[in-house]
Amino acid sequence: MTTMAARIRKEPPAGIGRALPAPGPDGQKGGFMGQIFIDGSWLDKDNAKISVFDHGLLYGDGIFEGIRAYNGRVFRLREHMTRLWSSARAIELALPYSPEEMERIILEALQRAGAPDNYVRVVITRGKGDLGLDRRKCKKPTVIVIAEMIELYSNSVYEEGIRLITSSLRRVPLDSLPPMVKSLNYLNNILARSEATRAGAQEAILLNHQGLVAECSGDNIFLVREGRCMTPPVSAGILPGITRGAVIEIARDQLKLPFAEADCTLYDLYSAEEVFLTGTGAEVIGVTEIDGRKIGSGRTGHWTREIQKLHRKMTRSTGVPFGEFAASRI
Ligand SMILES: Cc1ncc(COP(=O)(O)O)c(C=O)c1O
Repeated sequence: MTTMAARIRKEPPAGIGRALPAPGPDGQKGGFMGQIFIDGSWLDKDNAKISVFDHGLLYGDGIFEGIRAYNGRVFRLREHMTRLWSSARAIELALPYSPEEMERIILEALQRAGAPDNYVRVVITRGKGDLGLDRRKCKKPTVIVIAEMIELYSNSVYEEGIRLITSSLRRVPLDSLPPMVKSLNYLNNILARSEATRAGAQEAILLNHQGLVAECSGDNIFLVREGRCMTPPVSAGILPGITRGAVIEIARDQLKLPFAEADCTLYDLYSAEEVFLTGTGAEVIGVTEIDGRKIGSGRTGHWTREIQKLHRKMTRSTGVPFGEFAASRI
């Protein structure tokens, strides 16, 4: 093979598979101290920098994954790698590492961060180019892995549920950048979320161009109506969430709830007994109000609570172990 990806792949990622070195006095000896991986170097927050000519920054040309670790185990790591590779293929980005190498980098980042519960952000950009759009000028993708906890909803929000509004913005249509690609282009989602914030709500629903419910700015959406659980299909223009997949297994296989991936309208949401959101950051969160209308009883619903419990159990007891945490806790 003579491709760039093949040439780069011959070199094992720096630091991978080696014992972690003792900290140097300056905290940066040999670039081995940090928990942030950039193109083969381990760096701390202050030193983790990329070029202003990187097309991830200039054009949002790149992809990412958000991954959670619980109790020293990474939840659904292989599924995240599969989605990352699908996103990469969709935007013709040749990844410089194999999925196994990427997994090892992620596990090492978590081990370096030293917390049993954590969040990992993987970002792969087109790399450094010039100020033009031509991606052929970007000779090598930039690979970034950051292990650091994100700000999450407080416990009371899981009890009380959240309020949603319907955004005036539509989800990017299927015949543009496919919404299934977890790309660095989040401006549409950010603008939708800011509409929610302005209206005093926590999340925004994006409809697709047919007026059907797609998803929220950073979460997938489910409803329970007349004892049936439903979520919009991928063909409605959504990101196929890893949490969505886990929750479908929980609802259908564990709780034996009648389940369908089916087109949903705003009417379906407004008249549902329960609505909830799923995402790596939010996990499973009840919705108590949409566009000023009370949903169900106005509290997190019965099935949502059951799914929350089983999702909590699943995330805390399965996954790929890292460090000594998993061994000592399970
Ligand atoms: C637009 C969008 N939909 C859904 C999700 C939920 O996906 P996952 O469960 O894989 O985190 C995300 C998460 O980042 C998202 O950004």
